Order: sequence, then structure tokens, then C-alpha cells
Amino acid sequence: MLVVTAISAKGGSGKTTLIQMLASAMLARGGRVHVMDADADQQILEWQAKSTGADFGDLPRLPWPERLTVADAPPTVEALYARLDALDAEGIDLTLIDTRPGEHPDTETLALAADMILVPAVPVQSDFVAALKTLTWIGRMIATLGPEDPAPLYRAVLMNADKRAIDFVTAASDLDRDRARQKLHRQDAEVFDVISTLPLLPTPVAATISLQRMPLTGPLSHVRDIYAQDLRHRLQAGHLTAALEVCHEVLKDIEDLSGAARG
Ligand SMILES: Nc1ncnc2c1ncn2[C@@H]1O[C@H](COP(=O)(O)OP(=O)(O)OP(=O)(O)O)[C@@H](O)[C@H]1O
Ligand SMILES: [Mg+2]
Repeated sequence: MLVVTAISAKGGSGKTTLIQMLASAMLARGGRVHVMDADADQQILEWQAKSTGADFGDLPRLPWPERLTVADAPPTVEALYARLDALDAEGIDLTLIDTRPGEHPDTETLALAADMILVPAVPVQSDFVAALKTLTWIGRMIATLGPEDPAPLYRAVLMNADKRAIDFVTAASDLDRDRARQKLHRQDAEVFDVISTLPLLPTPVAATISLQRMPLTGPLSHVRDIYAQDLRHRLQAGHLTAALEVCHEVLKDIEDLSGAARG
């Protein structure tokens, strides 16, 4: 079982979106997912209830995927590891942990239990400073581990990015990167220079409406299945399939990296 925790020192950077993207990808693959919600606003715990209020016009609703369960995060370290053992024994493929913003001891426990810690990083100055702060915090956390303790991997994820940001981070050569940099405002270029020094997940996440709406509509695979019921909505189903593609790539990046780390 793969365990992924999203953390950030600053609110509103994309933690919950990342968690919902990964849940969507694993569900689309036919896998089983558990999400622990450790955020006070309970975005994940209320996800199913909110999505039943979404407007799908005259399309019949589909039952919420049974392969996705959500619960509060356990209150103690012992309860957390007992829950993880039980989920693993049950055959859950992916456990995702959504956390509240800020540097809290309980968030550290949830982060250190993961195979991969994700730090969403929106490419604007204020968010980037927060992402850097979060990465420094992770470094401090990992330094508290003993030599025998397995250390989680960590990556920043470029979130909610526009085309210029994506062109910059995905540039195939130094020349392409220089060209992408020249299209940026000077202030942005300074932010992007920092981006290129971060431990980044290879796949950037573009700003898309489907991702923005996901907290209200449900996992993308579920929403796609609703639209795919009727040929008149095939364009919408196509958009969702495209948005799911990014989710699959992010999940695959994490699997590749954590597989490589395990050897
Ligand atoms: N790739 C994206 N495309 C479109 N909207 C996005 C994307 N990533 C994040 N957002 C939007 O940005 C806002 C903040 O994202 P999200 O709720 O995931 O952040 P968060 O870190 O969980 O926030 P909080 O700290 O309040 O829990 C949301 O409205 C979300 O829909
Ligand atoms: Mg959130």
C-alpha cells in the first residue's frame, strides 16, 4: 500500500486538490483508496455529501464509488500506525492524508508516516515562499528520525500553473528553458529560477475547471462516468478524461519514485 500525505505551511495552495486527484486516478484504475482527513474544514469528509448536491442536469446519478472510503485521521501515533496496518491488510492500494495548513506536530506525524510527502506550489511569489518554507520544515522533520527509521520522500508539485509555468518546468533543453524564461515578467522569472532548484515532481498540474470543480462534483472518474452515460455530454466526458490524464501522471510519478527508493 502506498501512503501519500499533502502538507503546506500556507492555506489554499492545493493540498486537497492533489489528494482528490490521486484518489480519482486510483479509482479510475479500479484500485481501492482510503483518505484520512486531518483538516478542520473537513473538505474530504464532506466530499460525498457535497457532490450529491452538484448539478448534472437530467443525467442519472451514479452511486458513490464503494472503493473510496474517508475518515477522520486517527488522534494518536499508535492509532495512526494501527489504522495503516489494518488498511494494508484489507488490501487498500492507496492511502491519502489531507492535512490542515501550518506547521503542527500532528501534521508532522502524518507526514512521517507517508512514503511520499507532497507540497503543492503555486507559481506566484507568496505561494512560492510558503512552499520553500514547507520544504525546509520537511528537512527539519526528517532530521529528527533515527538512522533505522524509513524517511519519506518529498516533492513539491507545481499546482494551478499556467502555460508559461508549464513551458518553463517541462523545457527539454537549456535553450528551451531560456526561451520560456524570456517570456516571463522579471519578477516572475525570479520565482521560476527558484522553481528550477526545487525537488519537483516531473508532472506539473495546469489550472483547469474540472479540477477546480472537483470538491463539489466528486472524484473525476465518478464525474466522467456520469457524463459518459449520455452521448450528448461526450465533450464534457472528454474534458474529464483529459483532466484524469494528469492525475494518472502524478500518481505514476509517485509510484516510480517510491519504487526506485525501495529498490
Ligand atoms: N490545478 C488546479 N486547477 C484549478 N483550480 C485549482 C487547481 N489547484 C488548486 N485549485 C483551486 O485552488 C483552491 C485551493 O485549493 P485547495 O482547496 O486544494 O487548497 P488547500 O491547500 O487544500 O487549502 P486549505 O489549506 O484551505 O485546505 C481551490 O479552489 C482549488 O479548486
Ligand atoms: Mg484543503
